[in-house]
Amino acid sequence: MCGIVGYVALGTTPDNKKFDHTAYDVVLEGLRRQEYRGYDSAGVAVIGDNGIEFRKKAGKLVNLAEAVEASPLSESSIGIGHTRWATHGGPTDANAHPHVVDGGKLAVVHNGIIENFAELRSELLDEGVQFLSETDTEVAANLIASIYNKLENKDLTEAIRLASNRLEGAFTILAIHEDHPDRVVATRRNSPLVIGLGENENFLGSDVSGFIDYTKEAVEMGQDQIVTITGEGYEIIDFDGNSAEGKPFHIEWDATAAEKGGYDSFMEKEIHEQPAAVRDTLMGRLDENGNLTLDDMKIDDAILRSIDKIIVVACGTAAYAGQVARYAIEHWCRIPTEVELAHEFRYRDPIVNEKTLVVSLSQSGETMDTLMAVRHAQEQGAKVVSICNTNGSTLPRESDAVLYTHAGPEIAVASTKAFLSQITAAYLLGLYLAQLRGNMFKDEIKTILAELQEMPEKIQKLIDNEQQVKDLGTSMKDADSVLFLGRHVGFPVALEGALKLKEIAYIHAEGFAAGELKHGPIALIEEGQPVFIVVPSPNGRDSLHSKVVSNIQEVRARGAVTIVIAEEGDEAVKAYSDHLITIPASPSLLQPLLSTVPLQVFACALAAAKGYDVDQPRNLAKSVTVE
Ligand code: F6R
Repeated sequence: MCGIVGYVALGTTPDNKKFDHTAYDVVLEGLRRQEYRGYDSAGVAVIGDNGIEFRKKAGKLVNLAEAVEASPLSESSIGIGHTRWATHGGPTDANAHPHVVDGGKLAVVHNGIIENFAELRSELLDEGVQFLSETDTEVAANLIASIYNKLENKDLTEAIRLASNRLEGAFTILAIHEDHPDRVVATRRNSPLVIGLGENENFLGSDVSGFIDYTKEAVEMGQDQIVTITGEGYEIIDFDGNSAEGKPFHIEWDATAAEKGGYDSFMEKEIHEQPAAVRDTLMGRLDENGNLTLDDMKIDDAILRSIDKIIVVACGTAAYAGQVARYAIEHWCRIPTEVELAHEFRYRDPIVNEKTLVVSLSQSGETMDTLMAVRHAQEQGAKVVSICNTNGSTLPRESDAVLYTHAGPEIAVASTKAFLSQITAAYLLGLYLAQLRGNMFKDEIKTILAELQEMPEKIQKLIDNEQQVKDLGTSMKDADSVLFLGRHVGFPVALEGALKLKEIAYIHAEGFAAGELKHGPIALIEEGQPVFIVVPSPNGRDSLHSKVVSNIQEVRARGAVTIVIAEEGDEAVKAYSDHLITIPASPSLLQPLLSTVPLQVFACALAAAKGYDVDQPRNLAKSVTVE
């Protein structure tokens, strides 16, 4: 939700050469990589010989690049930039960031929401400030300017510190001032910000992709902190003005991992990266004695043994991964496990105590709803484990333990490889708890881990044979509505299949528990209605398989076009499948790692056939850092 970049350099490189990039080059590249965070508008400000220069444009980044090409900025060694997901005020040029105030002396970009902006605005109006936009950011910018102008020593960091103490809500704010062409000052509360360290140049980004082309060394900041970067280094203080330490880390991915690599879209590329995402998430989890080990599981074993309830909190796709996890965790650990949308959990007075383990699932690690749910649970004594894909992000930092998924950067707004790696990591957590609490023997765990190790190859096989599903997606581009049915772990897969289609193809899609059909949704079925059915393994538990086969017949008898996802060799479904997509055999609980893939491929192909931008669907942003 909004991407920000900051950059400042000394005049030359350490060997006295001219940098081969200007501030604008760095900012534009950083925004390009962070455009998935929001693409309603984009803007940049630099300090040239005559003070602050800026350009900003509604729409995608390309509009900004064209504006700068038409009217170039001075070569500069300091700049800030922003790519916006609109909250206060529509996506117009005027509402785009940066907001440049105080007669053009101060430029500010902001990610987040200032909750008390109306009150501050009226105070500033009384001081005679005139506003040019409808944004809360312009209020914050004017507040900083007003405080700065009253300071005798004209210290920009101090002005921002004092302003930060007046702001309520969530914010990362970056500012440059024409009096201080050697520094970018940034403040953060509840919104992401990472520092990048170069040689004679330093960077800021909402995440490391904001500067990954220039450095792999980064520093994580804490909550309620302010950083001042210059070409020489960085200094962090807290909102009381005390000096604070950042946590340095090395970035493992390289810039090419964030490029499309020959695919038409990032989404397609990320679907294809799923074998590696699952493999990497599983890697190195067994010690020399055959025990499952989770490096960052820093919660005392005695506490984990005493847990009597698990609550998984997450949003969207991550919540569906949580639903899959519930089946596995309850089965393996025999601990009652609930899954709740984080924003519902937070505001319903849930029963949580020291014996509750809260598991947060998040690709970005910055989803505000999930963060608020985690904080709420911690206030009531619960321990929190975060399953997260983004090193240095807020959720893992604030949690008691973390289990990183190793999916690599996910750029497409619609989540794919993060989903599969979240499920994989949640399985590992379930097995770990079962091992610790003595619910499972070492050998049983080893067997499941061995089965998990086979999943990347099986996913690869699905991807190698994806053409059938792609053709189906293309042929159904004019469908008005698609339904998805599943039972047991197939139910969250059905929900995920529907979500993918809604978000990137903008068509009505719904997922149902197949058993619920007869309680209402079957009334939706009419001649020609496409219905996906996720069929459990015929070798699985109870009579689940035959129940789902009956559900296929029920919808088909009422005119549905059935698209059946079933295991290779499942003869029982053949007679009722208008389209049959086969997946390799797997243990029932692990099947979502396979059955989800055709649904992703289908949605991606259908949306592309409609001519939509599958990576940046309308109205959405990758990282939702507002409640
Ligand atoms: C859908 C999608 C979203 C996210 C949700 C949570 O494709 O990506 O539903 O899953 O916004 O995001 P994270 O995982 O970053 O917390």
